[in-house]
Order: sequence, then structure tokens, then C-alpha cells
Amino acid sequence: LAGRLVLNPDFRVAPVSRRTFGSFVEHLGRCVYTGIYEPGHATADADGFRGDVLDLVRELGVSTVRYPGGNFVSGYRWEDGVGPVEDRPARLDLAWHTLEPNTFGLHEFLRWADKAEIEPMMAVNLGTRGVQEALDLLEYTNIAGGTAFSEQRRANGADEPFAIRMWCLGNEMDGPWQVGHKTAYEYGRLASETARAMRLVDDRLELVACGSSAPDLPTFGEWERVVLTETYDEVDYISVHRYYEIKGDDLHSFLGSVVDMDRFVDSVVATADHVKAVKKSDKQIDLSFDEWNVWYQSRAASVPPQGADWPVGPVLLEDQYSAADAVVVGNMLISLLRHSDRVTSASQAQLVNVIAPIMTEPGGRAWRQTIFYPFAQASALAQGTVLRVEPVSPTFPTVQHGDVPSVDAVATWDEGTGRLAVFLVNRNPSEPVTVDVDLAAFGALALSEASTLTSDDPYDHNTADEPDRVVPVAREDVTVEGGVLTIELPAVSWSTVLLA
Ligand code: AHR
Repeated sequence: LAGRLVLNPDFRVAPVSRRTFGSFVEHLGRCVYTGIYEPGHATADADGFRGDVLDLVRELGVSTVRYPGGNFVSGYRWEDGVGPVEDRPARLDLAWHTLEPNTFGLHEFLRWADKAEIEPMMAVNLGTRGVQEALDLLEYTNIAGGTAFSEQRRANGADEPFAIRMWCLGNEMDGPWQVGHKTAYEYGRLASETARAMRLVDDRLELVACGSSAPDLPTFGEWERVVLTETYDEVDYISVHRYYEIKGDDLHSFLGSVVDMDRFVDSVVATADHVKAVKKSDKQIDLSFDEWNVWYQSRAASVPPQGADWPVGPVLLEDQYSAADAVVVGNMLISLLRHSDRVTSASQAQLVNVIAPIMTEPGGRAWRQTIFYPFAQASALAQGTVLRVEPVSPTFPTVQHGDVPSVDAVATWDEGTGRLAVFLVNRNPSEPVTVDVDLAAFGALALSEASTLTSDDPYDHNTADEPDRVVPVAREDVTVEGGVLTIELPAVSWSTVLLA
């Protein structure tokens, strides 16, 4: 099959936002305990942070990390996680039916964030709690001193304020599974009052209101409209969450998932702009896509413990990712980038062990899943300005999304360095596509590097014993002639091309 696309430095979408490459650490399964934090591990530092994981987080190129949840935050008391560790209470976590020992809390997270060189993005509990507790936490983190909570922070060893800018006002409050689940109006009022009060403490905050957990919930659309009607002047972002998985053996539809993601983003943008029009406002609400990934929710690994069993840090949501999963994740990154004019923040869910690019063995190795690579490559290569790309390629049929174009792509252009990066997927389940990329508008550009991640078996995955089964492979067969780059994209593949 053959496809083509035209790149032009004038086809600008928006600057690349570093926050597109955010991630997420929730107190869930082994994300924290035996994930980022494992005192006694051979690579652990004096704080108990695994050095092998910190190295991989830096290699992944993560910009922000959302914390501490997720569903977990809706029953969380942040005070339990500060002060001397031996005095901290153990609590039931109702979201994941586990025991939270609170040996890792606010200070530990922020110290880890420093070492990982990431920006923290904090969530407040609007499930079981409200305005006052959010204010207490903000006073604790962002006020220099001289107040009860800021002095408590200083007594707990952090003299300087943490100065956290990004705050999520609760999590998935539309979800019937959420502790403290609310109607759109109930949540909108609470989020609005919480935001208004938080801004009285610190006027530099960037605040995220909860959007829908998924577009297939019955409240989707109306939820955004009502929540934004209540919160429009007080918040900066509305959140978007989306996970994909193969249903049965329908690989075709799975590979076409981003058709749904694009539509979801466009619908939320339209709803936000509708509220803007009704309010006659000049302000634009952007999207924080603060949970996205492939997640096999229908598999047993996602079922929390039951009954009297309340374990600490159990194995939960430990999906093993295939080559096809990496292609869908790469395609989701393409979608995020092409929406950079409105999606200016995103967090892949999650970072370690729990639906994660990085896996660990307790006391043992850390390794990269297939989905590690598209994220790391996109984070490293996407620089400057996102360019709009309209690829033309043959379609393949899907049950869920109709006919889906085989090739999807986006590009970034850094005028300062003269670097052009192109990200491409071939979603076709069986046919390779040879793509001609028209570069004439850039003048003379030479190929710096190109790579492709694929596998003969789209279900092939990496393991701790074979961590390099599915990795990007450098391409020696890409040509640039007469202002046209030609690359063959294997069926079910993710590719990157860098020119300068
Ligand atoms: O990321 C896993 C879970 O997915 C989060 O806790 C929740 O917000 C979402 O439903």
C-alpha cells in the first residue's frame, strides 16, 4: 500500500507543551510501594527511592507527575502522610480495597519529584472532603511560614514552601465507583467554591476541574457543560480520561482507537467553547488529559482484593504490553500532540507497575515495557512547534470505528535548531504502507535518524527476562531524495524520523 503526507513549517498548531509528557503516581497496587519506593532495595537511596526506577523515569522523559490519585485521593487524608513515619496511621483505602500504611506521603513524594526532575501536579480530595481540607493542604505546601500548617511543614523538615502550581479538584467525580460520587451540579458547586478559596491563598495556581471519566458514560457531555457553567471563571482546565483495550479478538477496532480519542477531545473542546459563548467570556478553558493509556480493565488483574483481605501494595493492574499496545500508545501521543492548541497538559496513567511503562520486581530488576518507547521517543524528539499533518492512506475496516486510515502522523518543527521530527503509526493490522513525506517547504533537510518499533506478532511483549524483545530498531532504508522522504511502515508499527 502507499500513503503520502505534506509537511510545511507554516501549518502550525501550537508550541509543544512539555506538560504533554506527564505521568501519574497513585497509591494503587505497587506503583508506590515496591515501585518508586522500596527501602532496602539494592539501588535504594537514603530516602528509600529506587535508583533504577529514578533512572528509567528520567530516561522516559517525564515532565509532570499527578499524585496521589486517582480513585485513591477521594478518601485520602493528606495529614496521615506527614510527620514522623512511626506516628502515621494505617488506613483502609476503599478505592482499591487495600491497606495504606502512609509510610510514603507528601514530603516523600515531593523529595522524589525533585530527584526525578519532574513538576508535581497535586490532587485534592473532593470525595469525602471539601473546601477546608483543600485549603489546609495548600497552606501546608505553598505558604512560606508563620501559619499553623506552614510551620508544621517546616517542623517536618521542609523549610521552603513546595510552591505547587497545578492542582486537580478531585478525581472522576462523575464515576458511580468514586467514593463521594456527585452529580455534575453538586460537584460543580464544590469545585467552584474550592477553587475560589484556593486562589485566595495563592493566585498563581492552575486548577483542573473534573471532566468525564469516559465518553461512554451516560452523563458525558452534559457533565462538562454543567461543571464548566459552575466553575468557568475559577478553573483553567477541564480533565479528560480515556483508556483503550482489545475487546475479544477485535484487533482492528483496537488499532483504530484514536479515531474515538480525537472525537472525544473535539467534543470536550466544543462543550467548553459552548459554555464560553453562553458566558460571553474571553477566557479559554484548556484540556488536561490527565489519565490515558491502554488498560485491560476486563482482565482479572484489575479486580481489587475482596472481603477481609486488605493487603499493602498488592499486585494490581499489572498489564503486560504488546507491540500493538505500543502502537496504540504512540498513536495516542500523536493525538495529544495534534491537539496541542487545546490539550496543554496530559498524564499517562500510570508510571510504575500499575498499567505502566516501567515495571519492577520487589527486591529485583526494573525493566521497560513496549509502551515505554513511544513515550520516551516522543518526549525526547518533540520540540518547538507542532505542525498539522493530514496523511492520506488506504483505510482498513473496523467494527467500532468504521473505515480507519492506516497511517496517522504528526510532526514538530524547531525553527531555532532546524530540527524536524515526524511521528508515524501504521495501524493497518496486516499490510505495510510505503509513505512519501513531502519536505519541499523546508528547503534542504538531511536525515539524522529513524527508527521503527514493530513485531511479526502484534501480541509479542517484553518481560523481566526478555526486556528487549520489542524495541525500536534503527532504520537504514529511509531515503530523502528531491525533497521527498520515503519510509516503509510495517503493519502495526510506530516510527520516528528526525531531520535537520
Ligand atoms: O488509573 C487507574 C484508575 O483509573 C484511577 O484511579 C481512576 O482515576 C481511573 O478510573
